[in-house]
Amino acid sequence: MVQLTLPRNSRVNADGKVWPKPEGATNTRTYRVYRWDPEGGENPRVDTYHVDLDDCGPMVLDGLIYIKNKIDPTLTFRRSCREGICGSCAMNIDGTNTLACLKGMDEIKGDIRIYPLPHMPVVKDLVPDLSNFYAQHASIQPWLQTKSPTPGTEWRQSEDDRAKLDGLYECILCACCSTSCPSYWWNGDKYLGPAVLLQAYRWLIDSRDEATGERLDNLEDPFRLYRCHTIMNCAKTCPKGLNPAKAIAEIKKMMVERRV
Ligand code: SF4
Ligand code: SF4
Ligand code: FES
Repeated sequence: MVQLTLPRNSRVNADGKVWPKPEGATNTRTYRVYRWDPEGGENPRVDTYHVDLDDCGPMVLDGLIYIKNKIDPTLTFRRSCREGICGSCAMNIDGTNTLACLKGMDEIKGDIRIYPLPHMPVVKDLVPDLSNFYAQHASIQPWLQTKSPTPGTEWRQSEDDRAKLDGLYECILCACCSTSCPSYWWNGDKYLGPAVLLQAYRWLIDSRDEATGERLDNLEDPFRLYRCHTIMNCAKTCPKGLNPAKAIAEIKKMMVERRV
């Protein structure tokens, strides 16, 4: 699996607070968790917690919820569905961007080390600021655009055309891929990154969409599309098994084809 750098503010005090073991617990795992408090204090640091496995579910997210409920209510992270659908619990676990709810504690040897998604501003602890990421997603206009008269029933699609969306529609916009992409780390203000470009391709190849030319015009820019250098970190890290690099290559192909 791909190894990643620390988040933007990487001067971390690795010897943050060590919380005592829960009373009577004999079967524990050690969590070492990045902490950053916007209100100040010792920033950033890595706190150490002991999770009682006899009182906790098996996934990394279960351990974080255990810590928040039973040890330290100030620990802050996002989560919602706890089944790999909402994308909220994306974080850097054991050196890889992934979803805490899909990562089993038993997949990790030794201490469970958790950081926020790399190279994003941190709001608090494990919560990155995704404002730019969401604005970039909005910029590709991720909805069906048509010019033909609206049909009486629905915009229909053949089974073959619908199948072209497989491998794309499953994206949950967790940002694991974009925050593992070196090009996005250095040019995230201008380069759209793998997640948003995968979404752009999802609309480009939708047989019902009638704004293909405008969508390609919107991507024809030295930074928005062409900063992908096929490093493939995005495909390696995607917790849904998707391949944004392939989608980006397909967009580049469409750009060439429309010029000939
Ligand atoms: S392509 Fe994969 S890693 Fe990237 S945002 Fe979508 S689900 Fe997450
Ligand atoms: S293949 Fe492109 S988008 Fe994916 S990590 Fe590499 S540079 Fe980034
Ligand atoms: S909590 Fe929804 S994807 Fe993990």
